[in-house]
Amino acid sequence: MKAAVINKYGGAEVFQYADLAMPQIKTNELLVKVQASSINPIDWKIRKGMLQLLTGYNFPLVLGFDVSGEVVEVGDSVTRFKVGDQIYTRLDNITGGAYAEYAAVSEKAACLKPETMTHEEAAAVPLAALTALQALRDEGQIRRGQSILINGASGGVGSYAVQIAKAFVTEVTGVCSTKNIELVKSLGADRVIDYTQQDFTIAPTKYDIIFDVVGNQSFWSCQNSLQPNGVYITTQPYPGDFVQSFLTQIVPGKTAKVILLQTNGLDLASLKELIEAGKVRSIIEQTYPLSEIATAHRESEKGHVVGKLVITVAS
Ligand SMILES: NC(=O)c1ccc[n+]([C@@H]2O[C@H](COP(=O)([O-])OP(=O)(O)OC[C@H]3O[C@@H](n4cnc5c(N)ncnc54)[C@H](OP(=O)(O)O)[C@@H]3O)[C@@H](O)[C@H]2O)c1
Repeated sequence: MKAAVINKYGGAEVFQYADLAMPQIKTNELLVKVQASSINPIDWKIRKGMLQLLTGYNFPLVLGFDVSGEVVEVGDSVTRFKVGDQIYTRLDNITGGAYAEYAAVSEKAACLKPETMTHEEAAAVPLAALTALQALRDEGQIRRGQSILINGASGGVGSYAVQIAKAFVTEVTGVCSTKNIELVKSLGADRVIDYTQQDFTIAPTKYDIIFDVVGNQSFWSCQNSLQPNGVYITTQPYPGDFVQSFLTQIVPGKTAKVILLQTNGLDLASLKELIEAGKVRSIIEQTYPLSEIATAHRESEKGHVVGKLVITVAS
């Protein structure tokens, strides 16, 4: 099969196109013909070698975590899927494997694709929307009527977070730059703060949950913006944040949390319900063929993608 691979860590120029052996599936796995994938910042962080202690030196590596595609083979113990099913998933291994014509997908990580979405729209969802859902629902314990601030509301995780927070019937404030104000409003945000004009951490408004998707604030810089029992959630798991998270959870009052995404087919099913109910949609800035994966990575690394960058894999 054709795949975009890296044979060493480095800049986007390290991508090469190779013919690889088809993935051999285990008894609990599906072989999926990948129709589309999408870019997440973790992809280029791995490509650059920022996680090499975890991702190792076993090249070639196929990167990419998001898959939307068709099941072409099932392992002997698979019961929930059959050949021909259209599924979407976030691959649950340490380096991914989605930038290829075929991927091995564990049954527990897979979910039938939302029927109202194309493969391109569905491929944008898994990693980013699972992060948003698990951050708000599990770490934030989001409840109806609360006041939520999403810092980085126009990006991959943030654009889903705004919509998911609205689906919980909350009051949502999105933080983005001037050019993205209308988009964030169109996602359902009740209020939008333009970070080029205003710093939300020094404004008097207080929130029940601050979800710092960008990770450019800290629990301490958000102190004055949190309600007495407010929760600060960050996507950036620096070692000190875990200590902070532990300490604030044993003392009553404001809490700091770190979101660490867990791949989970059941949560993808919850997202499918929200999508099919018309409550969540994908914002796609641009779609690239797999042959332009390096260009897509360079664009993502600039840090200003609106929604998601999608990769089409099947011709
Ligand atoms: N811990 C986990 O499990 C986990 C899971 C998923 C993602 N993450 C991490 O979360 C981060 C965000 O991921 P993502 O997919 O959302 O990234 P992304 O799509 O690349 O985010 C880009 C967005 O960030 C916005 N942005 C940039 N600077 C900003 C600022 N100062 N204030 C507010 N918004 C700003 C940009 O808006 P403008 O163009 O308007 O500036 C753009 O829309 C990444 O570091 C990623 O690795 C962690």
